[in-house]
Amino acid sequence: MLRLGVFVSLLSLAVATPTPPRTMRVHTRMDSAPVGFTLAGAASPDTMIKLRVALVQSNPAGLEDALYDVSTPSSANYGQYLTREEAAAFVAPSDETTSAVNTWLAEHDVTATPLTPAGDWIGFTVPVSKANEMFAADYSVYAHTETGQTAIRTLSYSVPEELIEHLKVLYPSTTFPKVQRKLQVVKAPVSVVPETTQGAENAAVNASCASTMTPSCLQQIYGVPSSPATQSSNKLAVAGYDDQWSNIADLSTFLKRYRPDMSSNTSFTLETLDGGSNNQTEADAGVEANLDIQYTVGVATNVPTVFISAGENNNDGDLGGFLDMTDLLLNETNPPQVWTTSYGPNEDDVPEDLAYNLCNAYAQLGARGVSILFATGDGGVSGTQSSECTTFVVPFPDGCPYMTNVGSTTGFAPEISASFSSGGFSNYWARPSYQADAVEAYLKTLGDTYAGLYNASGRAFPDVATQGINFSVVIDQEFYLVDGTSCSSPTFASVVSLLNDELVGSGKPVLGFLNPWLYSTAAGAFNDITEGSNPGCGTDGFNATAGWDPVTGLGSPDYAKLRSAAGLS
Ligand SMILES: *[C@@H]1O[C@H](CO)[C@@H](O)[C@H](O)[C@H]1NC(C)=O
Ligand SMILES: *[C@@H]1O[C@H](CO)[C@@H](O)[C@H](O)[C@H]1NC(C)=O
Ligand SMILES: *[C@@H]1O[C@H](CO)[C@@H](O)[C@H](O)[C@H]1NC(C)=O
Ligand SMILES: *[C@@H]1O[C@H](CO)[C@@H](O)[C@H](O)[C@H]1NC(C)=O
Ligand SMILES: *[C@@H]1O[C@H](CO)[C@@H](O)[C@H](O)[C@H]1NC(C)=O
Ligand SMILES: *[C@@H]1O[C@H](CO)[C@@H](O)[C@H](O)[C@H]1NC(C)=O
Ligand SMILES: *[C@@H]1O[C@H](CO)[C@@H](O)[C@H](O)[C@H]1NC(C)=O
Repeated sequence: MLRLGVFVSLLSLAVATPTPPRTMRVHTRMDSAPVGFTLAGAASPDTMIKLRVALVQSNPAGLEDALYDVSTPSSANYGQYLTREEAAAFVAPSDETTSAVNTWLAEHDVTATPLTPAGDWIGFTVPVSKANEMFAADYSVYAHTETGQTAIRTLSYSVPEELIEHLKVLYPSTTFPKVQRKLQVVKAPVSVVPETTQGAENAAVNASCASTMTPSCLQQIYGVPSSPATQSSNKLAVAGYDDQWSNIADLSTFLKRYRPDMSSNTSFTLETLDGGSNNQTEADAGVEANLDIQYTVGVATNVPTVFISAGENNNDGDLGGFLDMTDLLLNETNPPQVWTTSYGPNEDDVPEDLAYNLCNAYAQLGARGVSILFATGDGGVSGTQSSECTTFVVPFPDGCPYMTNVGSTTGFAPEISASFSSGGFSNYWARPSYQADAVEAYLKTLGDTYAGLYNASGRAFPDVATQGINFSVVIDQEFYLVDGTSCSSPTFASVVSLLNDELVGSGKPVLGFLNPWLYSTAAGAFNDITEGSNPGCGTDGFNATAGWDPVTGLGSPDYAKLRSAAGLS
């Protein structure tokens, strides 16, 4: 925080002085726009664009050590989460970096604003002509051939050679908008199937759950309590992008039907950024947003839930929204303890520097006690969505070791994997030690199969799974069935939030970054899924097997066992 003060005052002292032109070095360059985008023309030189620049962080390795120190059950500091300032100190740029960047900005008469508490991201809005001059770039308008979406991007940018060691990422530059909802199938409106025990193969679960998934089905299958949570400090955040709005009247209809034991007025709070909103016009209710809210508010009974809606102002495509929502949470003194997201691009659509930076931001939140959950993706081994491919495709941020990926299953007698459930191995991040044993055991059974199609040394995903098919969702007052890992991340987020509620109630720290705990103390608290596979790229994909596998991870949650693993008696 101190450093931030210094940073701001340096900026305000900055005076433009004539300096000799700097020697520019190419930082990032691509040969052509990604598939789907074509050059539509020059950008008007006067168009203002908001640029964000990431400065080199002083101690990312220290951040990682601190994250594992507070997240590993065997560590003396387990659960002793960092404050905002403590986490920020690891990523604050060095004085040398700050002053080199400020000198250069002053030469261009640009005043930047810190975007994070650490000041490792700064932002400024300049005309296209100035952006081109500062970065030897060629910002132009690109259009998506199918959607018509346009974006101002450059295929290459450079930075002064004195800054190459100080400037890490320029956004937007070479990242094109690619973020998709992780929702596989939305079926036609359906009549509501009455819940019945008739013909149930497993007497503990209503037979109707075989064709229609509801909050009570999830409670029955996983032993999730229906009793109301009691801790008002324990919050669950649901990310909203892409003008997906969550409708309160739909939630009420959903609760009336599926949670008659709850007040149908139970709702959520709203936080917005980038001009986001939550328009309540019924016809504008978003399938993804309604699903995400109905299966958090409707499963995490009475846990305070916040819908965070990112608009499109100045975020230049959805990864700008990812950055801005992350920055918003980093700046909160008490961020939500659980954060679920069901959107994402593929890893190879995100430049490595930007990917590492976002992942380090997740590490900061994890070190502060936030459990970050993402839907793993709906394309099996072919990525976020089903796609043509010759090698397996990794969704983003699934490869990031500092968050938790949730895959999908279906059925309960037995529970098997959903064929769309993305799984595999990152090309950007190496396998973290917390999952080494589990993943190596799987790789041993896989042998040479698919050699060359995936990166055997990469961080493997998903970590866990839950039901993900035929979730009954109310949209514009009608009941639909939806499929996708988008069903699974809110479900698992609710499970974690309910455990956190109990932990807070017994004076214990919340679960925080889950993975070191999941793969050790809690590894036996999952229903092992051993049937099914995730085909893609012209292959049968990986198999669900005994133990961890790249389809369902450790398996689906057993609430009673997770309680014990969390030290709740
Ligand atoms: C953090 O939040 C405070 C208070 O809401 C705000 O004044 C400040 O500008 C924010 N800082 C950043 C870096 O966003
Ligand atoms: C299961 O179905 C029966 C009707 O046969 C119903 O009374 C009961 O509430 C259902 N169980 C749950 C947990 O919804
Ligand atoms: C999902 O619902 C559809 C339509 O009701 C049904 O045909 C299908 O068998 C169900 N699938 C599963 C796995 O429950
Ligand atoms: C819901 O809110 C309305 C309006 O505030 C109120 O009239 C109604 O009694 C509430 N219903 C329940 C079930 O609490
Ligand atoms: C919500 O959307 C409707 C229809 O698109 C629009 O007429 C209305 O102005 C919007 N409301 C707000 C508050 O933006
Ligand atoms: C495989 O992953 C490692 C890190 O785990 C990385 O260094 C390497 O570049 C990756 N290989 C490919 C071909 O992407
Ligand atoms: C998956 O299981 C099937 C049936 O046992 C087997 O034939 C196949 O080789 C397995 N595939 C992989 C990738 O392990």
